[in-house]
Amino acid sequence: MEVEGASVVVTGGASGIGAAIARAMAAAGARGVLVADLDGGGATAVADELAAAGIEAIGRAVDVADPEAVTAMVTTAESAFDGLDIVVSNAGIGTGEGVDAPLEQWQRSYEVNVLAHVHAARAALPGMLDRGSGAFVHTCSAAGLLTMIGDAPYTVTKHAAVAFAEWLAITYGGRGIQVAALCPQGVETALLREADQGIAGRAVRAAGPVLTPGEVADDVVAALGDGRFLVLPHPEVAEHLRGKATAPDRWIAALQRTADALQP
Ligand SMILES: NC(=O)c1ccc[n+]([C@@H]2O[C@H](COP(=O)([O-])OP(=O)(O)OC[C@H]3O[C@@H](n4cnc5c(N)ncnc54)[C@H](O)[C@@H]3O)[C@@H](O)[C@H]2O)c1
Repeated sequence: MEVEGASVVVTGGASGIGAAIARAMAAAGARGVLVADLDGGGATAVADELAAAGIEAIGRAVDVADPEAVTAMVTTAESAFDGLDIVVSNAGIGTGEGVDAPLEQWQRSYEVNVLAHVHAARAALPGMLDRGSGAFVHTCSAAGLLTMIGDAPYTVTKHAAVAFAEWLAITYGGRGIQVAALCPQGVETALLREADQGIAGRAVRAAGPVLTPGEVADDVVAALGDGRFLVLPHPEVAEHLRGKATAPDRWIAALQRTADALQP
């Protein structure tokens, strides 16, 4: 789907990758952008910036774990922009915890990193199917294809996010719905800086180059135009995925050595 002329919702749009995607969508000629985030002030600030550049933009405080709030967000965009073309379901959280993460953190990770994509799809699909076109971008992570050393809830829920994106693409692709799963490694954002407090951040920085949110956002716009499902701003992730599939024991042994070496 071409971004030019499209209407877009971006969750987690107040900062980092989400804010960069909102800006990239506006720069690529989107006709309207709704920026949603738990941080309503931050979402409004990004929307104001887009509006100042002449884009129809709305900022909203939305907790993506709340299905009613997500439905209201989609309804607002549909009526403000006369239909919703692209949902960028991007909000996500890390924990920096292992198997002993409090159950509340496992649960919250599931709600934000997985169920939020489900809520967005349930809300936006009917309108898209009526019109016979629409696109979802789910910000997953390389952790959803490989693993995130030092963060068990993040790894597990990002795998589930990739699985849901695949399911959605397979089930609705024939009815005009495009799905993209964004799976970056390190990106210089608040989430990574928080992960820097523990092993997870060190593991990400050791794994390869850390990209800017803008570089990732440009790849998202290009992937929408190309109709690409798997969006890998770090191309080496595809190689690691091949290594995991063809020699899983070797792949796990290599990551075990990395995890051991990162222990403080
Ligand atoms: N930074 C990285 O290295 C990296 C790598 C791979 C994937 N990701 C993913 O990218 C996405 C964006 O993260 P980021 O790196 O830009 O971090 P970020 O912390 O800069 O942005 C995340 C945004 O999501 C918002 N948010 C969190 N919980 C929310 C909720 N329940 N409802 C609405 N908004 C909520 C936050 O307020 C924040 O503005 C996440 O899904 C993250 O898992 C990040």
